[in-house]
Amino acid sequence: MELTNRTILITGASSGIGEALARRLAHFKCSLILVSRRKEILDKLKEELKQKANSIITLQCDVSSKTEVTKIFDFIHDKKIKIDIAILNAGIGNEMKVENYDSAIAEKIFNTNVLGMIYFIEKLIPEFIQRRSGIIAGISSLADNRGYSRSGFYCASKAAISVYLESLRLEFKPYGVKVITIKPGFVKTPMTSKNKFPMPFIISAENAADIIIKGIQKEKRVIQFPMPTVILSRLVGLLPTNIYEYLASKII
Ligand SMILES: NC(=O)c1ccc[n+]([C@@H]2O[C@H](COP(=O)([O-])OP(=O)(O)OC[C@H]3O[C@@H](n4cnc5c(N)ncnc54)[C@H](OP(=O)(O)O)[C@@H]3O)[C@@H](O)[C@H]2O)c1
Repeated sequence: MELTNRTILITGASSGIGEALARRLAHFKCSLILVSRRKEILDKLKEELKQKANSIITLQCDVSSKTEVTKIFDFIHDKKIKIDIAILNAGIGNEMKVENYDSAIAEKIFNTNVLGMIYFIEKLIPEFIQRRSGIIAGISSLADNRGYSRSGFYCASKAAISVYLESLRLEFKPYGVKVITIKPGFVKTPMTSKNKFPMPFIISAENAADIIIKGIQKEKRVIQFPMPTVILSRLVGLLPTNIYEYLASKII
């Protein structure tokens, strides 16, 4: 897909991968709709990028609130904005030890990472189907393939997203709507800056944004990177449970 002059919505554009995507996409003369909770950061970004992008709209929204998602789509529809590509990137992670088990954390993670994406897709479906075009690019993770220690809620949320997007891709095919699953390995962002464990093959958010943009241009079904982590996660995914558990216990 040619990106120039497209209207692209990005959730979680105030930081990390989403911010890097906004910065890169501004150079394509796109019209950007930037969404996150911290509007003041989005507004600063808009100020910085306004000469490059066609137009930029910043919208405050907690993606885990269906009411707030509905509100921003009311605005988008009122302004008769036609979204070509939605990059559903907003997400959170949380390390949690079993000794501090707290289902409230699971609710937060699932409401943001899973339901947050589902609420957006619900609003995008009618128009995309009617126009028989549009791209939904959802950010999952290479951590969707196994239950990693202390990240159970996060891994489970990303596994849910990956499976859900795969189903959606099949259902949307007859309507000409593309669904892309994006699976990053470790990317240097505020989310990973808290991690105390080793993060092999970590790449910059700018590098991640470039790979994602190239993948969207090629309309790839799955965009996964960096390659060494893709191979490693495939191998880890193939391990029998007892060997996986043995190796995991040596690492943590
Ligand atoms: N970094 C990695 O290594 C890595 C690897 C695989 C997958 N990912 C995925 O990539 C995505 C982006 O992560 P990142 O590393 O760039 O993290 P980040 O720097 O922490 O950025 C997360 C973004 O999501 C937004 N967000 C979080 N909760 C939200 C909510 N309830 N409503 C609206 N926006 C919300 C944040 O904005 P506000 O706080 O302003 O709302 C922020 O812009 C996530 O889905 C993450 O799971 C990251």
